[in-house]
Amino acid sequence: MTKTEIPLPFRSVFLSRREFIQLGLAGVCAAWAGVFVQSRLFPSEQAVTEAKPVSIPLTDLPVGSSQQITYGGQSALVLRTQQSIKAFSLTCTHLGCLVEWRQDQQEFYCPCHDGRFDQFGEVVAGPPPVPLEQFPVRVVDEQVVIGEEV
Ligand code: FES
Repeated sequence: MTKTEIPLPFRSVFLSRREFIQLGLAGVCAAWAGVFVQSRLFPSEQAVTEAKPVSIPLTDLPVGSSQQITYGGQSALVLRTQQSIKAFSLTCTHLGCLVEWRQDQQEFYCPCHDGRFDQFGEVVAGPPPVPLEQFPVRVVDEQVVIGEEV
């Protein structure tokens, strides 16, 4: 009778306890990272809809000026031109970096990947897929009000 030899080192097709635990921990870390990244890139709409309106005296916003505010937990910029007053989120629509307003060039610039938006929030260059988010603006009793009534 011949004996069948098992080649060494013998490798089971099943995971060892150590490998199983490592794989499980890696899966938990990956899921946590995914949730974290998603919450940073795509803030929930609920947070924005529950945002309280922000008021600025009209006299503090002369034509051609801008003012940075926080609306619904987001940085935003209120821009007053000859024609209108608009409020834009400063969160880039590509990967969520903060854009900056360049007064001299009349555009928003994202330093992360050279994204650029015009004064209407429209994409003019770079990878951002959609325009900057706009918030509703109205003028009531010499006050510029950004956001909806709750
Ligand atoms: S995050 Fe703004 S261009 Fe990429």
